[in-house]
Amino acid sequence: MPQPQLADSISNLDRTPVLEARGLTRRFGGLIAVNNVSFSVNEGEIFGLIGPNGAGKTTLFNLVTGLIHPSNGQMLYQGDEISKLRPHQIAKKGIARTFQNIRLFADLSALENVMIAQHIHTKSGVFTGVLGLPPAPREEQKTRSRAFELLELVGLSDRADEKASNFPYGDQRRLEIARALALEPSVLLLDEPAAGMNPNEKQQLSDFIRQIRQQFNLTILLIEHHVPLVMGLCDRIAVLNFGQLIAIGNPADVKSDQAVIEAYLGTD
Ligand SMILES: Nc1ncnc2c1ncn2[C@@H]1O[C@H](COP(=O)(O)OP(=O)(O)OP(=O)(O)O)[C@@H](O)[C@H]1O
Ligand SMILES: [Mg+2]
Repeated sequence: MPQPQLADSISNLDRTPVLEARGLTRRFGGLIAVNNVSFSVNEGEIFGLIGPNGAGKTTLFNLVTGLIHPSNGQMLYQGDEISKLRPHQIAKKGIARTFQNIRLFADLSALENVMIAQHIHTKSGVFTGVLGLPPAPREEQKTRSRAFELLELVGLSDRADEKASNFPYGDQRRLEIARALALEPSVLLLDEPAAGMNPNEKQQLSDFIRQIRQQFNLTILLIEHHVPLVMGLCDRIAVLNFGQLIAIGNPADVKSDQAVIEAYLGTD
Protein backbone atom coordinates (compact mmCIF):
# COMPACT_ATOMS: atom_id res chain seq x y z
CA MET A 1 0.00 0.00 0.00
CA PRO A 2 1.48 3.41 -0.94
CA GLN A 3 2.53 5.56 2.01
CA PRO A 4 1.44 9.22 2.12
CA GLN A 5 4.20 11.74 1.62
CA LEU A 6 5.71 13.08 4.86
CA ALA A 7 4.67 16.66 3.99
CA ASP A 8 1.06 15.53 3.52
CA SER A 9 1.07 13.72 6.85
CA ILE A 10 2.34 16.80 8.65
CA SER A 11 -0.10 19.21 7.01
CA ASN A 12 -2.97 16.83 7.82
CA LEU A 13 -2.05 16.47 11.49
CA ASP A 14 -4.05 19.45 12.73
CA ARG A 15 -7.13 18.78 10.60
CA THR A 16 -10.07 16.64 11.63
CA PRO A 17 -11.06 14.55 8.63
CA VAL A 18 -14.53 15.28 7.26
CA LEU A 19 -15.31 11.57 7.24
CA GLU A 20 -13.54 8.74 8.97
CA ALA A 21 -14.25 5.02 8.89
CA ARG A 22 -12.78 3.03 11.77
CA GLY A 23 -12.76 -0.72 11.33
CA LEU A 24 -16.09 -0.49 9.57
CA THR A 25 -17.68 -3.92 9.10
CA ARG A 26 -21.08 -4.99 7.79
CA ARG A 27 -22.30 -8.55 7.63
CA PHE A 28 -25.36 -9.84 5.80
CA GLY A 29 -25.89 -13.31 7.27
CA GLY A 30 -22.70 -15.19 6.49
CA LEU A 31 -21.46 -12.63 3.96
CA ILE A 32 -19.06 -9.88 5.05
CA ALA A 33 -19.92 -7.11 2.57
CA VAL A 34 -17.60 -4.55 4.21
CA ASN A 35 -14.73 -5.99 6.19
CA ASN A 36 -12.77 -3.96 8.74
CA VAL A 37 -12.38 -0.89 6.51
CA SER A 38 -10.58 2.20 7.82
CA PHE A 39 -9.90 5.40 5.91
CA SER A 40 -10.42 9.12 6.19
CA VAL A 41 -11.51 11.78 3.74
CA ASN A 42 -10.23 15.33 4.00
CA GLU A 43 -12.18 18.50 3.42
CA GLY A 44 -12.48 19.44 -0.23
CA GLU A 45 -11.24 16.12 -1.58
CA ILE A 46 -12.75 14.25 -4.48
CA PHE A 47 -12.35 10.75 -3.12
CA GLY A 48 -12.90 7.81 -5.45
CA LEU A 49 -14.14 4.38 -4.44
CA ILE A 50 -13.56 1.62 -6.96
CA GLY A 51 -13.57 -2.17 -7.06
CA PRO A 52 -15.23 -5.11 -8.81
CA ASN A 53 -18.99 -5.73 -8.74
CA GLY A 54 -20.10 -6.83 -5.30
CA ALA A 55 -16.95 -5.44 -3.63
CA GLY A 56 -19.01 -3.51 -1.05
CA LYS A 57 -18.89 0.02 -2.48
CA THR A 58 -22.62 0.78 -2.30
CA THR A 59 -22.80 -0.93 1.10
CA LEU A 60 -20.13 1.48 2.29
CA PHE A 61 -22.19 4.44 1.03
CA ASN A 62 -25.25 2.96 2.78
CA LEU A 63 -23.24 2.82 6.01
CA VAL A 64 -22.11 6.44 5.65
CA THR A 65 -25.65 7.67 5.00
CA GLY A 66 -27.36 5.63 7.72
CA LEU A 67 -29.46 3.40 5.45
CA ILE A 68 -27.84 0.50 7.26
CA HIS A 69 -25.75 0.35 10.41
CA PRO A 70 -22.36 -1.29 10.90
CA SER A 71 -22.02 -4.73 12.50
CA ASN A 72 -18.72 -3.48 13.94
CA GLY A 73 -16.66 -0.34 13.77
CA GLN A 74 -17.62 3.30 13.46
CA MET A 75 -18.27 6.05 10.99
CA LEU A 76 -17.35 9.58 12.06
CA TYR A 77 -18.35 12.92 10.54
CA GLN A 78 -16.30 15.95 11.62
CA GLY A 79 -15.05 13.81 14.50
CA ASP A 80 -18.51 12.80 15.76
CA GLU A 81 -19.84 9.27 15.51
CA ILE A 82 -22.78 9.02 13.12
CA SER A 83 -23.03 5.22 12.87
CA LYS A 84 -26.19 5.03 14.95
CA LEU A 85 -28.06 7.91 13.31
CA ARG A 86 -30.96 7.57 10.92
CA PRO A 87 -30.75 8.70 7.27
CA HIS A 88 -32.65 11.99 7.78
CA GLN A 89 -30.43 12.90 10.73
CA ILE A 90 -27.33 12.30 8.65
CA ALA A 91 -28.77 14.28 5.74
CA LYS A 92 -29.47 17.15 8.11
CA LYS A 93 -25.84 17.12 9.23
CA GLY A 94 -24.85 17.85 5.63
CA ILE A 95 -24.24 14.49 3.97
CA ALA A 96 -26.21 13.99 0.75
CA ARG A 97 -26.10 11.27 -1.87
CA THR A 98 -27.32 9.95 -5.16
CA PHE A 99 -28.30 6.32 -5.71
CA GLN A 100 -26.95 3.65 -8.06
CA ASN A 101 -30.56 2.63 -8.67
CA ILE A 102 -32.08 6.04 -9.25
CA ARG A 103 -34.62 6.98 -6.59
CA LEU A 104 -36.65 9.86 -7.94
CA PHE A 105 -40.36 10.41 -7.50
CA ALA A 106 -41.22 9.18 -10.99
CA ASP A 107 -44.63 10.88 -11.21
CA LEU A 108 -43.49 14.25 -9.91
CA SER A 109 -41.92 16.91 -12.10
CA ALA A 110 -38.19 17.59 -12.08
CA LEU A 111 -38.86 20.82 -10.18
CA GLU A 112 -41.02 19.09 -7.56
CA ASN A 113 -38.37 16.42 -7.01
CA VAL A 114 -35.83 19.11 -6.12
CA MET A 115 -38.33 21.15 -4.07
CA ILE A 116 -39.20 18.19 -1.86
CA ALA A 117 -35.56 17.71 -0.91
CA GLN A 118 -35.33 21.30 0.34
CA HIS A 119 -38.06 20.77 2.93
CA ILE A 120 -35.41 19.44 5.27
CA HIS A 121 -34.30 23.08 5.67
CA THR A 122 -37.63 24.93 5.48
CA LYS A 123 -39.66 25.84 8.54
CA SER A 124 -42.87 24.20 7.41
CA GLY A 125 -40.97 20.95 6.79
CA VAL A 126 -41.94 17.91 4.83
CA PHE A 127 -45.05 17.21 6.93
CA THR A 128 -46.79 20.26 5.58
CA GLY A 129 -46.72 18.63 2.16
CA VAL A 130 -47.66 15.21 3.47
CA LEU A 131 -50.62 16.55 5.45
CA GLY A 132 -51.76 18.66 2.54
CA LEU A 133 -51.30 21.90 4.47
CA PRO A 134 -50.29 24.90 2.39
CA PRO A 135 -46.73 26.05 3.05
CA ALA A 136 -46.13 29.74 3.79
CA PRO A 137 -46.36 31.42 0.36
CA ARG A 138 -43.08 33.28 0.63
CA GLU A 139 -41.27 30.13 1.70
CA GLU A 140 -42.87 28.19 -1.15
CA GLN A 141 -41.69 30.83 -3.62
CA LYS A 142 -38.16 30.75 -2.25
CA THR A 143 -38.07 26.94 -2.44
CA ARG A 144 -39.36 27.03 -6.00
CA SER A 145 -36.83 29.55 -7.26
CA ARG A 146 -33.95 27.79 -5.51
CA ALA A 147 -35.04 24.48 -7.10
CA PHE A 148 -35.15 26.18 -10.47
CA GLU A 149 -31.62 27.52 -9.98
CA LEU A 150 -30.39 24.02 -9.19
CA LEU A 151 -32.08 22.67 -12.32
CA GLU A 152 -30.34 25.40 -14.30
CA LEU A 153 -27.05 24.34 -12.79
CA VAL A 154 -27.48 20.74 -13.98
CA GLY A 155 -28.85 21.89 -17.37
CA LEU A 156 -32.45 20.74 -16.90
CA SER A 157 -34.33 23.98 -16.25
CA ASP A 158 -35.96 24.02 -19.69
CA ARG A 159 -37.79 20.79 -18.72
CA ALA A 160 -38.55 21.72 -15.11
CA ASP A 161 -42.22 20.73 -15.38
CA GLU A 162 -41.69 17.38 -17.09
CA LYS A 163 -42.21 14.18 -15.11
CA ALA A 164 -38.97 12.69 -13.81
CA SER A 165 -39.78 9.35 -15.43
CA ASN A 166 -39.75 10.99 -18.89
CA PHE A 167 -36.07 11.88 -18.64
CA PRO A 168 -33.39 9.66 -20.17
CA TYR A 169 -31.08 7.91 -17.68
CA GLY A 170 -28.23 10.41 -17.86
CA ASP A 171 -30.61 13.30 -17.18
CA GLN A 172 -32.22 11.46 -14.27
CA ARG A 173 -28.76 11.10 -12.74
CA ARG A 174 -28.20 14.83 -13.09
CA LEU A 175 -31.62 15.48 -11.58
CA GLU A 176 -30.58 13.33 -8.61
CA ILE A 177 -27.48 15.48 -8.21
CA ALA A 178 -29.65 18.63 -8.21
CA ARG A 179 -31.87 17.05 -5.57
CA ALA A 180 -28.86 16.13 -3.42
CA LEU A 181 -27.51 19.70 -3.73
CA ALA A 182 -30.88 21.03 -2.54
CA LEU A 183 -30.00 19.63 0.90
CA GLU A 184 -27.13 22.16 0.99
CA PRO A 185 -24.65 19.43 1.84
CA SER A 186 -21.00 19.73 2.75
CA VAL A 187 -20.39 16.14 1.69
CA LEU A 188 -21.81 14.66 -1.50
CA LEU A 189 -21.73 10.92 -2.26
CA LEU A 190 -22.25 9.95 -5.88
CA ASP A 191 -22.93 6.27 -6.63
CA GLU A 192 -22.02 5.61 -10.28
CA PRO A 193 -23.17 9.01 -11.57
CA ALA A 194 -21.82 8.35 -15.07
CA ALA A 195 -23.74 5.10 -15.59
CA GLY A 196 -25.94 5.42 -18.66
CA MET A 197 -24.03 8.42 -20.02
CA ASN A 198 -22.22 8.57 -23.37
CA PRO A 199 -18.50 9.54 -23.51
CA ASN A 200 -19.32 13.19 -24.15
CA GLU A 201 -21.73 13.34 -21.19
CA LYS A 202 -19.13 11.59 -19.01
CA GLN A 203 -16.59 14.31 -19.79
CA GLN A 204 -19.16 17.01 -19.05
CA LEU A 205 -20.06 15.28 -15.78
CA SER A 206 -16.42 15.22 -14.77
CA ASP A 207 -16.10 18.99 -15.37
CA PHE A 208 -19.40 19.52 -13.57
CA ILE A 209 -18.28 17.60 -10.46
CA ARG A 210 -15.15 19.77 -10.28
CA GLN A 211 -17.29 22.88 -10.71
CA ILE A 212 -19.72 22.04 -7.90
CA ARG A 213 -16.91 21.11 -5.53
CA GLN A 214 -15.57 24.64 -6.02
CA GLN A 215 -18.92 26.43 -6.04
CA PHE A 216 -20.40 24.74 -2.95
CA ASN A 217 -17.17 23.94 -1.04
CA LEU A 218 -17.98 20.26 -1.22
CA THR A 219 -16.14 17.15 -0.23
CA ILE A 220 -17.11 14.49 -2.77
CA LEU A 221 -17.05 10.69 -2.61
CA LEU A 222 -17.46 9.02 -5.95
CA ILE A 223 -18.15 5.40 -6.87
CA GLU A 224 -17.46 4.91 -10.55
CA HIS A 225 -16.44 2.06 -12.83
CA HIS A 226 -15.23 4.25 -15.69
CA VAL A 227 -11.53 4.21 -14.88
CA PRO A 228 -10.37 7.22 -16.97
CA LEU A 229 -13.02 9.38 -15.29
CA VAL A 230 -11.98 8.26 -11.80
CA MET A 231 -8.27 8.62 -12.49
CA GLY A 232 -8.70 12.07 -14.04
CA LEU A 233 -11.02 13.45 -11.41
CA CYS A 234 -10.13 12.03 -8.00
CA ASP A 235 -7.50 13.37 -5.60
CA ARG A 236 -7.31 9.99 -3.90
CA ILE A 237 -8.81 6.61 -4.58
CA ALA A 238 -9.70 3.70 -2.30
CA VAL A 239 -10.01 0.22 -3.76
CA LEU A 240 -12.33 -2.40 -2.30
CA ASN A 241 -12.21 -6.10 -3.12
CA PHE A 242 -14.48 -8.65 -1.41
CA GLY A 243 -15.27 -6.05 1.25
CA GLN A 244 -11.65 -5.31 2.08
CA LEU A 245 -9.68 -2.14 1.42
CA ILE A 246 -6.77 -3.34 -0.72
CA ALA A 247 -5.28 0.04 -1.64
CA ILE A 248 -5.65 3.75 -1.00
CA GLY A 249 -3.65 6.59 -2.48
CA ASN A 250 -3.34 9.01 -5.37
CA PRO A 251 -4.45 7.85 -8.84
CA ALA A 252 -0.93 7.12 -10.11
CA ASP A 253 -0.06 4.95 -7.11
CA VAL A 254 -3.35 3.06 -7.21
CA LYS A 255 -3.07 2.50 -10.96
CA SER A 256 0.33 0.82 -10.57
CA ASP A 257 -0.55 -1.17 -7.42
CA GLN A 258 -0.11 -4.87 -8.13
CA ALA A 259 -3.03 -6.01 -5.95
CA VAL A 260 -5.33 -3.50 -7.66
CA ILE A 261 -4.24 -4.58 -11.13
CA GLU A 262 -4.91 -8.22 -10.26
CA ALA A 263 -8.27 -7.59 -8.59
CA TYR A 264 -9.73 -4.90 -10.76
CA LEU A 265 -7.81 -3.02 -13.41
CA GLY A 266 -6.27 -5.94 -15.28
CA THR A 267 -3.08 -5.70 -17.31
CA ASP A 268 -4.57 -3.59 -20.11
N1 LIG B 1 -29.24 -5.60 1.96
C1 LIG B 1 -28.45 -6.63 1.62
N2 LIG B 1 -28.73 -7.88 2.01
C2 LIG B 1 -27.93 -8.92 1.70
N3 LIG B 1 -26.80 -8.79 0.97
C3 LIG B 1 -26.48 -7.57 0.54
C4 LIG B 1 -27.28 -6.43 0.83
N4 LIG B 1 -26.69 -5.33 0.28
C5 LIG B 1 -25.58 -5.78 -0.35
N5 LIG B 1 -25.44 -7.11 -0.20
C6 LIG B 1 -24.35 -7.94 -0.72
O1 LIG B 1 -23.13 -7.33 -0.30
C7 LIG B 1 -22.15 -7.43 -1.33
C8 LIG B 1 -21.67 -6.05 -1.68
O2 LIG B 1 -22.69 -5.39 -2.43
P1 LIG B 1 -22.58 -3.89 -2.90
O3 LIG B 1 -23.87 -3.54 -3.52
O4 LIG B 1 -22.10 -3.05 -1.79
O5 LIG B 1 -21.43 -4.00 -4.01
P2 LIG B 1 -20.88 -2.90 -5.01
O6 LIG B 1 -19.40 -2.83 -4.82
O7 LIG B 1 -21.64 -1.65 -4.89
O8 LIG B 1 -21.14 -3.60 -6.42
P3 LIG B 1 -21.60 -2.98 -7.85
O9 LIG B 1 -20.34 -2.47 -8.51
O10 LIG B 1 -22.16 -4.14 -8.58
O11 LIG B 1 -22.61 -1.92 -7.59
C9 LIG B 1 -22.79 -8.18 -2.48
O12 LIG B 1 -22.45 -9.55 -2.37
C10 LIG B 1 -24.28 -7.97 -2.24
O13 LIG B 1 -25.04 -9.02 -2.76
MG1 LIG C 1 -22.89 -0.59 -6.11
